[in-house]
Amino acid sequence: MNKLWSGRFTKTSEEWVDEFGASISFDQELVLEDLQGSVAHVDMLGKCQIISEEEAQRILEGLEILKKKATNDELSFSVKLEDIHLNLESKLTELIGPVGGKLHTGRSRNDQVATDMHLYLRTHVKEIILLIEELQTAILKKAEQNIETIMPGYTHLQRAQPISFAHHFMAYFWMLERDKQRFIESLKRINLSPLGSGALAGTTFPIDRSLTADLLGFEGIYENSMDAVSDRDFILEFLSGSSILMMHLSRLSEEIILWSSHEFQFIELDDCYATGSSIMPQKKNPDMAELIRGKTGRVYGNLMGLLTVLKGLPLAYNKDMQEDKEGMFDTVKTVTGSVKIFAGMIESMKVNQERMENSTKQDFSNATELADYLSSKGVPFREAHEVVGKLVLKCIQHRCYLMDLSLEEYKKANEKFEEDIYKYLDPRTAVKRRTSAGGTGFEQVELAIKKAKLLLGKDIVKSTL
Ligand code: ARG
Repeated sequence: MNKLWSGRFTKTSEEWVDEFGASISFDQELVLEDLQGSVAHVDMLGKCQIISEEEAQRILEGLEILKKKATNDELSFSVKLEDIHLNLESKLTELIGPVGGKLHTGRSRNDQVATDMHLYLRTHVKEIILLIEELQTAILKKAEQNIETIMPGYTHLQRAQPISFAHHFMAYFWMLERDKQRFIESLKRINLSPLGSGALAGTTFPIDRSLTADLLGFEGIYENSMDAVSDRDFILEFLSGSSILMMHLSRLSEEIILWSSHEFQFIELDDCYATGSSIMPQKKNPDMAELIRGKTGRVYGNLMGLLTVLKGLPLAYNKDMQEDKEGMFDTVKTVTGSVKIFAGMIESMKVNQERMENSTKQDFSNATELADYLSSKGVPFREAHEVVGKLVLKCIQHRCYLMDLSLEEYKKANEKFEEDIYKYLDPRTAVKRRTSAGGTGFEQVELAIKKAKLLLGKDIVKSTL
């Protein structure tokens, strides 16, 4: 089989060298996008009378057949033909004869591949946005059922102050909201057409770039042909948004893993999202959460990989850029799978409300309440902090909690203490009293959930898509 660019060559390379340079093993993922781009291009060539309407029609018919075959998985590709673009062009010519060779008029694989990647990412980013909404909905539902579920809040993984479980969980809702917004905003830049930029300099044919952009549903065209074929910042943006999203999922994974341990027992995962051990019959491992935490690494790797591929490249296209694809495909697959699994895992997990609440009764996470109590009675906060710190120390030495000290002992530490301190020491009171905006007080949490619901109901997402 002759290579499509064989004219200038006198020797052919060995098969393994061809294989090393070829991208068909992975860029066949772009088959439908490549056909879609070709349809728009040929349509335009016909309308601009660069080729005859009749020729355009024949090519369109050929492309339609190829599309059907691709959808039915009936196309097989050859490494000799390097990539998806040359493979499809050759198949087209086989089907409809030499007129197929007119498809590539006024086009280069450089603007072709860039167009494919924009089309591909547009579809998948939209899908990811919708999946994030599903995960947000699952989080929201769990939160709604647990507004008054009290649990210990941590800093440094040390008990800090009691909080509402819904408040803890909703923190992730808002992280995901920003992740989603990042993807929505990136669509503006993904939705631009590089098609018609040629190899780098544009073309001598009287093409109409706005027409192909319209046909492909792009909002506009790249202003500079060299920029259009040589930058991959739209992919970097996707990889970076994905890295941040995965970082958030990884943190939630870590919490889920901790919470489902015997030590915590705050939640129980549904059997469908856990696995057993081949040797220890009692085990129920939170595999999915662990895997998502682990897969975060490959997404970061894909971002660093592409940043490094691009950093030293002179304009315009360089073959190095063929390396943009596998990381992008892998990230799409990883992120899509992770968000999907997460939604199911959250929806089906059980929250052990009693265990959470009881654990707040056996710690010092109510110490801040005492310090606040004193300072609200005029004791400078620093001094109040010191007084309570000493009481905590006393408790540790006597193996008891703040609730167990007598009023006498409190009075000895500071005479501003009165009988009502015991009410303040109740973790539920502590949560209820945190009424500042965005705090864990039940009313604030309820308000936040209402706002979150409105956000999801607003359908800004669907209108952008
Ligand atoms: N397979 C190539 C890639 O993915 C397509 C573009 C090739 N262009 C070229 N001038 N060799 O980047």
